[in-house]
This record gives sequence, C-alpha cells and structure tokens, in this order.
Amino acid sequence: MGDDLARRPMRHPPLARSDLADSPAGAEARFLRDYPSYGDTSALDELRTSGFARLDAGRHVYLDYTGAGLYADSQLSEHFELLRRNVFGNPHSANPTSTTITALVEQARAAVLAFFRASPDEYVAIFTPNATGALRLVGEAYPFCGGDRFLLTFDNHNSVNGIREFARVRGAETSYVPSEPADLRVDEQLLARYLTEVGGDHHNLFAFPAQSNFSGVQHPLEWIDLAHERGWDVLLDAAAYVPTNRLDLGRWHPDFVALSFYKMFGWPTGVGCLLARREALAKLERPWFSGGTIVAAFVQRDWHQWAPGEAHFEDGTVNFLNLAAVEIGLRLLDRMGLETIHARVEALGSWLLDELGALRHSNGSPAATIYGPSGPDRRGATIAFNFLHPDGHIVDERYVDRIAGTHDVSLRTGCFCNPGAGEIAFTISRETLVGGEFGDAMTLDDYVRAIGLPSGGDVRASLGLVSNTADIKRFIAFAYEFIDLAEVPTDLPTRTGC
Ligand SMILES: Cc1ncc(COP(=O)(O)O)c(C=O)c1O
Repeated sequence: MGDDLARRPMRHPPLARSDLADSPAGAEARFLRDYPSYGDTSALDELRTSGFARLDAGRHVYLDYTGAGLYADSQLSEHFELLRRNVFGNPHSANPTSTTITALVEQARAAVLAFFRASPDEYVAIFTPNATGALRLVGEAYPFCGGDRFLLTFDNHNSVNGIREFARVRGAETSYVPSEPADLRVDEQLLARYLTEVGGDHHNLFAFPAQSNFSGVQHPLEWIDLAHERGWDVLLDAAAYVPTNRLDLGRWHPDFVALSFYKMFGWPTGVGCLLARREALAKLERPWFSGGTIVAAFVQRDWHQWAPGEAHFEDGTVNFLNLAAVEIGLRLLDRMGLETIHARVEALGSWLLDELGALRHSNGSPAATIYGPSGPDRRGATIAFNFLHPDGHIVDERYVDRIAGTHDVSLRTGCFCNPGAGEIAFTISRETLVGGEFGDAMTLDDYVRAIGLPSGGDVRASLGLVSNTADIKRFIAFAYEFIDLAEVPTDLPTRTGC
C-alpha cells in the first residue's frame, strides 16, 4: 500500500461487546469519511453487481483472494462463445484448426508481455501449468554447481523453498535471509551483506516474493538492481503481487518472474507463466526434452535439436483452450484499471487492519494479533492474524474456520505454504525445529504439541478484485464472535497438513 488513499488520519477506538449493536455500520461511516477517494473505485461495485452476482446470492464473504482470484461471468461467456464459434485443433500442426489456435496462443503471449510492459526484445512469456511450474522450470534448469549460491528470503512460498533441493543435488549452497519481527520485513543491510558474499565466477540465484503470501509484506523491487549489481540472477515470485499491483517490467528487470493467472482473475485455472529475460534464459540447461520443446530428435543417434525461444520450455501441448481465456482476463483487469483495483484493496485492507488491531475483550486485552505490518505502508491486503482469548493465548484456528463457516466467510487457515514467515511470526528457533523430529507415527497435532507451538497455524484474510465494504462489515461481525471467548470446544478436527 502506501499512497494517499492509505494515509489514515486516525485509528478507531477499541470496540467492546457493549458497542457492537451498530458498530459495523458506524465503522463503515468512519471508513467512508476517512477514505473519500474510495468512491472513485465504484466501477468495481458495478462489476460486482453485473459479473459476480453469485457472491451475494450465496451470501458469500470471500476473503481468500491470495488463494484464488474470482472470475466475472463475462469472462466465461466470452471464452465459451469463442470455443462455441471455432474449431480448435492441437497447436503442434499446420492444419487450419491448428493455425487458428496457434494464432490465439501467440496473441495471448503478446497480451501477457504487453500487460506487464515487457519488451519482447528483452522478455519471453513461457506458459506453464501454474506459478509452481514456472518456479520449477527455473530451479531444475539453473546451472547450479559447487561454489554457486542460492539465496532466498525466509518469507517464501514452498514452491520457491523447494528449489533448494535442485541446488543441493548440484552442490550449490543455499542460504536464507531472515525477516524480523514484528513487521516481518527483511533487514536490508543484512541482505546487502549476503548479496556481497559472493566470490569468483559463479552462477548465483536470489529469489524473493514481490508480496508475501503470508503477511502481505511487499519486499522492495529495488533489490533486483541491488542483486544485479553484485552479479546475481533474480527470480521474482510475483504470484501474490500481480493480482492487485502493477508489475512494470519496463521499469524492473528481474531475470525470472513466476505467476498463476487464476490468482489474477479467477479463470482459467491450470495456466501460469514464466516471464524470463532472454539473456538469463540462455543460461538455463533443461534436464530433459519432450514433445514441443525440440525441432527434431533421433532414436538411433543420441541427438536432439532444441526448439528456439519459449517453445524450448513448454513441455508437451500447452493448455491451449484455456490460454485463449488469459487475454480475456487481462482485458478485464485493464478495463477496471489495476490502479483502481489497487486503491480499493488498499483502502479496504487498511480498514480491516484497523478493526483487527482495535478489537478488545471486556478486560481491555487485545482480541487479535496481526503478523506483519499493522498499517498500510508497503504491504498488500493479505493479512495474517490470530484471534486471542482474554488471557492472551491463541484461539485455535480450526475453531476460527468453524465459526467462519457459520458466517459464510471464506478465509484461509494454516501456514499458507510459507513456513519461513510462520517460523518468524511464531518465534520458532532453529534449535526447536532441529531438536523436534516429526516421528513416523506422529500426527501434525502431536508435532505441534511436541515442539511447543502456540498454535497449529494462523488465519489469513485477503482482498481482491471485487471486495467491498459489505465484506468488511460482515468480517467485523464475525470477528466479534471472538470477543470474550474463554475457550473452544474439544471436538475440533485433526490437523492433516499445514
Ligand atoms: C507467493 C506465491 N508463490 C507461489 C504460489 C504457488 O502458486 P500455484 O499453486 O498456483 O503454483 C503461491 C500460491 O498461493 C503464492 O501465493
């Protein structure tokens, strides 16, 4: 966040049960007074009415946009109309139906580059099944060897953490830059030191998320230049950032960018993208070839000729019918204006943060704790928190899920595939983790108890394209359920994963 819309003149006074009768409405009035420019985003209210009626018809309060974005009805009708009107064959041929779909795939590719303001002379757009597929492409083909470094922030999705396995097998060293409590930001001086600790002629890869899928922290894109100046290649995980923020690849030049389209506009699933600088792409060494990635191969001779450009990295047949829907989704975001979407979620996120920060029990103790920045500065509207009992201990996130269900609120609970941010948020030391083995017969609950974690996870509320004031008011009403809550029932479901 961070522009004028987010500058809050005041924090709300603490809420207590006795204030509750009309306070969501009162809170909305205060919000609209504090954010007069919120009205400038009303086109998104119209979009919600025209394209997302199913949300309100089902009384849904959807607060998991970092999990998955939502699609507008118009995206489906445009896409299905396209499918109904045309005959599309496999793009790996030269026949008429193949040529038609190839043209659409290439049109989608050009639209992706244009959306991210990436020059086709500098970048290629490689279609993948999802952001994870894009990250894997880089990890498995990056030419790590002994003496090379893989540097990453604690704050990363597991699909980035997993690249350390490729580094390890190839003899490269992995190091993590910690985040610091309570804001869960990285100490930039420390990062600069880590980036300087490189020697000789090596391939070194630095990976970080533009926005944390855990805390919403937006890490500085200036790190890209800093790392380049010190000879690093940069892998930017933009999956959680691009749904509500402009990533301008004319301004920033990361070597590799990973994202999933369903997070940006809900439909289609099964399509992501690796945006790669041509120069950096030339360094990658693919561990295999497959249909689609080569011009020719022989069986009687151990030889194959790689296909040029993006085809070299697109294994098999791309998800061609769904790729046509990518351009439709990008057009919707362009029509609404990413800056408008950004401004709306920034304002609503700031309100939600304030409400959570102000939530109090009758004894005056906080009823929620936020992991990450408590204000709108340099963060997205992805908010990790836990509710607290009046004695200060954490409300079991499984109970939060149960109550959320009764309010038709869709939240995310757990660790959100980002263990590093969780370790810092819960102040779990390396010693605790190294000492606490996850035994064969253990359940996740046993493990949580064994290493003395205060909870098995957090709660995450995230906003997006058609979030509105009604969503926040209903969230506030849901949050009030936790005021003065002394204990939770004992019949909560077993935790099966984090
Ligand atoms: C920051 C971040 N990176 C990567 C991913 C992985 O995305 P996908 O599951 O679509 O591959 C996610 C998914 O939540 C994410 O939030």
